[in-house]
Amino acid sequence: MITKSKNNLKLFLFCTLVLTVTETSASVFNNVSCTSNHTFTPNTTFDANLNTLLSYLSSNVTNNFRFFNTTSGEDSDTVYGLYMCRGDVPFALCRECVGFATQTIASSCPTSKEAVIWYNECLLRYSYRFFFSRMEEWPRHQVNIPLGDPVVLHSSGFYDALGSIFDELPNQAALALKGSNPYAVKQENASASITVYGLAQCTPDLVAGDCRRCIADAAAEFAGSCCGGSIGASVLFPSCIVRYETYPFYQHSGTSAPTMIKGSGNIRTEVIVIVVVLVALLVIFLCIGYCGFIWIKGRKKRKASDHRENFGPEISVLESLEFDFATIEAATNKFSEERRIGKGGYGEVYKGILPNGEEVAVKRLSTNSRQGAEEFKNEVLLIAKLQHKNLVRLIGFCQEDREKILVYENVPNKSLDHFLFDPQKRRVLTWSERFKIIKGIARGILYLHEDSRLKIIHRDIKPSNVLLDNDINPKISDFGMARMVDTNHIQGCTNRVVGTYGYMSPEYAMHGQFSDKSDVFSFGVMILEIISGKKNSCSFESYRVDDLLSYAWNNWRDESPFQLLDPTLEESYCPNEVEKCMQIGLLCVQENPDERPKIGTIVSYLNNTSVQIPIPLEPAFFMHGRVRRHSTEHQSSSGYSTNHSFSSSVNKISTTIFFPR
Ligand SMILES: *[C@@H]1O[C@H](CO)[C@@H](O)[C@H](O)[C@H]1NC(C)=O
Ligand SMILES: *[C@@H]1O[C@H](CO)[C@@H](O)[C@H](O)[C@H]1NC(C)=O
Ligand SMILES: *[C@@H]1O[C@H](CO)[C@@H](O)[C@H](O)[C@H]1NC(C)=O
Ligand SMILES: *[C@@H]1O[C@H](CO)[C@@H](O)[C@H](O)[C@H]1NC(C)=O
Ligand SMILES: *[C@@H]1O[C@H](CO)[C@@H](O)[C@H](O)[C@H]1NC(C)=O
Ligand SMILES: *[C@@H]1O[C@H](CO)[C@@H](O)[C@H](O)[C@H]1NC(C)=O
Repeated sequence: MITKSKNNLKLFLFCTLVLTVTETSASVFNNVSCTSNHTFTPNTTFDANLNTLLSYLSSNVTNNFRFFNTTSGEDSDTVYGLYMCRGDVPFALCRECVGFATQTIASSCPTSKEAVIWYNECLLRYSYRFFFSRMEEWPRHQVNIPLGDPVVLHSSGFYDALGSIFDELPNQAALALKGSNPYAVKQENASASITVYGLAQCTPDLVAGDCRRCIADAAAEFAGSCCGGSIGASVLFPSCIVRYETYPFYQHSGTSAPTMIKGSGNIRTEVIVIVVVLVALLVIFLCIGYCGFIWIKGRKKRKASDHRENFGPEISVLESLEFDFATIEAATNKFSEERRIGKGGYGEVYKGILPNGEEVAVKRLSTNSRQGAEEFKNEVLLIAKLQHKNLVRLIGFCQEDREKILVYENVPNKSLDHFLFDPQKRRVLTWSERFKIIKGIARGILYLHEDSRLKIIHRDIKPSNVLLDNDINPKISDFGMARMVDTNHIQGCTNRVVGTYGYMSPEYAMHGQFSDKSDVFSFGVMILEIISGKKNSCSFESYRVDDLLSYAWNNWRDESPFQLLDPTLEESYCPNEVEKCMQIGLLCVQENPDERPKIGTIVSYLNNTSVQIPIPLEPAFFMHGRVRRHSTEHQSSSGYSTNHSFSSSVNKISTTIFFPR
């Protein structure tokens, strides 16, 4: 048994080595960025100069420089350009990469006066501007394909290792600028089985301070929400690049493959290359044979062994969560219409009864999700570990062919919006219950943001995502959905803005930037809705130009906060609590994310009577006399243009009002 698993490990290591070797034998394209707002016309002097420049670049690489900058033409038609190969890349590969880069950039950006192209092995850029020795961080590109389980990674010391590598690399890369081949690498053992390898490199025209800053900024992207759970990623700026992997992707002395570069004579290098290729081919055949052998072991077993490779010790947890599609079909009466209890942006929800009689809510995700099976399971594993009394508990999942299904605990009462926005049912919610709901939601969000081992940004906090149990305890649902359905994160941003108008913070709605403070914004809107019993930017639109936020603000400013209060509450409320909630609600919807309190602070405001709460300023979206109209439920498949009707208003902070406490 032990020898067998040792053999497997050896084979695995061999395969990894082969992958490393094959990766070095071809340039890997990452991205090209062409500016569109500066273009030139074909057959002009600029065009000719650009062609000359590109030929200078591709011809000078034969001199075996890993970095070269040059200029072509004069006056307004001057073109500046440079290429840089990764410091560890052999010259042959550097030549090949720059050759590809000049061709691809010319054909991809036929009329751009400025462009940059990134390969794994090299970058190349040109511009009509003099950009040498300037540190530039835009445009940028990010690569992070393989997703691991963040919880497993966290517990394995992966993030500590990553952090310590990129604490050091900015300095090392800056120091290396003085040397002949300025790049820096560092490896760190995360655990007995995981080693993290990092690389950082600036274009050598930078000064040390700029280089340090560039690397630090690029590495900071790793810590952003973009790369959580990635076991490998790179961030590419025009002036510097950073990358990490869990295998030795660079060929630095001390790691596996360097011998093949260091041959002095060409003949010797070629012999070594041939030997390596032959060995690689042999190993590939062995691997194919081995894989075939595994394959015929049958589907069931293969599935299990895949799982084991990908999930390690988590496998038993995952297996205990998995349901057969047949079980789910039976539980929901074949997804029958009368079992349907809801429909959301991510799919439909059915009431299900499991064979043991347990009632559950079954969420059938819309199948157009691009997410792969392993990724989906990773997310399930992660979400299943989040357990808090103010979060709906995930019981299991089912994944078969195109079906992706999540099974949740059944929460008997409906969602908060069913009560809040219904003229009759809202009478059920007394003030003390509403206050309890606000506090419960805040605790649930706190757990997502800060208390669980991984920070989760909900991105769609709204009353219809808050379910109420028999005792009117709130339970947040659909957390982690954004991760499961849309993992296309770039620069802490997303291409696809998921969420609901009326609850989205301005920076998220307009620029796709989300953070814990975007959730705080949505929570603030919800607090104001709970106080007023009115829906933001919907119920007011028909007869007032103001939306809920400006209405609340006006009442606050005019020192008449109880105007906002839901009339059905009549006199049965606690004025201090109402005032406090209103103040917190307004603080949460500040336009500047830095002025919104963190959720932990909000929880302490809610629980303590002695804490001094800051005075809110005018909230976001406050537009005097302008009608704002848009659908309340909307999902966009692309970003929006910034001149959307959300055009951010400038806060008029001169009218600071001190409300009597
Ligand atoms: C480059 O990356 C952007 C996202 O950063 C992507 O939209 C675009 O399609 C990529 N271009 C190419 C040519 O791969
Ligand atoms: C070109 O576009 C970029 C972003 O698209 C913008 O930041 C830059 O200011 C623009 N330049 C000019 C001269 O308009
Ligand atoms: C540019 O010049 C080439 C040959 O010199 C010619 O074939 C082409 O039509 C010209 N294009 C334009 C837009 O003038
Ligand atoms: C290299 O670049 C220079 C301009 O910087 C150019 O004059 C020269 O022809 C190029 N080619 C070679 C092979 O040096
Ligand atoms: C290369 O860049 C340096 C600045 O780092 C600049 O002074 C020099 O003129 C550039 N060389 C060419 C040929 O443009
Ligand atoms: C990392 O682990 C390897 C073997 O697992 C060991 O040889 C090496 O010394 C360790 N490196 C450090 C920095 O601890």
